[in-house]
Amino acid sequence: MTSSMGIVIDIGYIAASILFILGIKMLSKPGTARQGNLVSALGMFIAIVITLLSGGMSFTWIIVGLIVGSIIGTITANTVPMTAMPEMVALFNGFGGIASLLVGWAEYNARPESPLFTLIAIFFAVLIGGVAFSGSMIAYAKLAEKMPGKPILFKGQQIFNALLLIAIVVCGIMYAISPAGPSSYYVFIAIAVLSLILGIMAVIPIGGADMPVVISLLNSYSGLAACAAGFIILNNVLIVSGALVGASGIILTNIMCKAMNRSLGNVLFSGFGSSEGGGAGPVGVQGEAHPISAEDAYYVLEAAGSVVFVPGYGMAVAQAQHAVRELGEILENNGAEVRYAIHPVAGRMPGHMNVLLAEANVPYEQLAEMDDINPIINTIDVCIVIGANDVVNPAAREIESSPIYGMPIINVDYAKTVMVLKRSLRPGFAGVDNPLFFKENTRMLFGDAKATLQGLIAEFKES
Ligand code: TAP
Repeated sequence: MTSSMGIVIDIGYIAASILFILGIKMLSKPGTARQGNLVSALGMFIAIVITLLSGGMSFTWIIVGLIVGSIIGTITANTVPMTAMPEMVALFNGFGGIASLLVGWAEYNARPESPLFTLIAIFFAVLIGGVAFSGSMIAYAKLAEKMPGKPILFKGQQIFNALLLIAIVVCGIMYAISPAGPSSYYVFIAIAVLSLILGIMAVIPIGGADMPVVISLLNSYSGLAACAAGFIILNNVLIVSGALVGASGIILTNIMCKAMNRSLGNVLFSGFGSSEGGGAGPVGVQGEAHPISAEDAYYVLEAAGSVVFVPGYGMAVAQAQHAVRELGEILENNGAEVRYAIHPVAGRMPGHMNVLLAEANVPYEQLAEMDDINPIINTIDVCIVIGANDVVNPAAREIESSPIYGMPIINVDYAKTVMVLKRSLRPGFAGVDNPLFFKENTRMLFGDAKATLQGLIAEFKES
């Protein structure tokens, strides 16, 4: 490679890295998220072109991989339902992990007697890549209900996992001491196999409903594995992009844990959800709910000067986002100020509600975060809760014995009137009863959220 070619490659990789960073920054705001995706994709395009230009590889396999990957990616991205997106992300993470493991394996086969630095990078690519792959496959299977979502627990589980990790480290040391020795191939295979087993064992004790957090963590692992693979083949852009994925994955994991008021250790090791869900407490949350009809709700909404929609998982189940936007527009035309308040863990995956509302073309400027809406919520005339439950449960604020005590919530009960759209008084994901349903200012609109919203829209149209 000529030195001028080397400079072109370095500049291309720096440009790609800058575009990745800009893209991630733009993804953090709904208004710029689409462009952020495109900017990152441009960065990836430049990285691929520059890597191909750097030479020294067979184009046949690259073209075959490109065609097969593009076909599978296009078909799955176009056919996957929105509610199955976490499963798809789990699969993608897993593929990232196995790719890094294979880079490590290929390098081991090509140059067993690499310098110590490369041997260490190979070890981490295989270990973290293996854990990310098998862990992601279990996460996928749990979410797709290919295996029971309940935590699989047994006595001494954590000790067993710790022993597995120790065995992997011991094999890693043996491999580093004698990378080309007679038994080194078996030691290397043992590292890969034990890492795959560790991934499985680490994820089976975690309940299906906690999988989005686990997937975010595994996403971080797959980034770290890619970073290690970058050190193996000395590719700067792979090192940078792997580090970015590793860091952003762990930041997202942390945000989700905080919004659920749980530590990462609690998510990973507590077996949350191992008891039968539903009504897990707090005991004594009871009272009389006040159901109302769409017609009565219409009179309240008709007179409202400010309305805040608070969507939750039930909106996704009912696919009610378009009806929500339509009612929002009607209320605006009626003179009300309309906003949509989104809790960081509403739904079942990060940004779940943002994506659905964006799909329904809800204006970005009407979206409000929990921390922006809570200080002014007592001035709001009506909060309409659409299939949300845990994220608006005042037990998190009021009942110290509640499993969700301390979890930040949207304080809808502080609004003048709250309308809750759900099918029953059943609890949500956390299995915790909700005193909101029995508050004086709460009105229950029972039924499927979409049907209820359509009923409300019909009332406005008829009037
Ligand atoms: P949930 O607390 O799970 O409540 C959803 C409610 O939707 C249910 O109570 C259900 O009540 C109702 N519902 C279901 N189908 C409906 C339909 N067709 N029409 C109307 N209502 C329907 O949801 P949330 O408030 O969004 O809270 C999210 C929960 O998931 C939190 O506990 C959070 O910690 C957890 N979680 C979130 C994430 C992320 S990243 N978002 C990740 C892991 C865990 P009915 O059965 O009575 O209708």
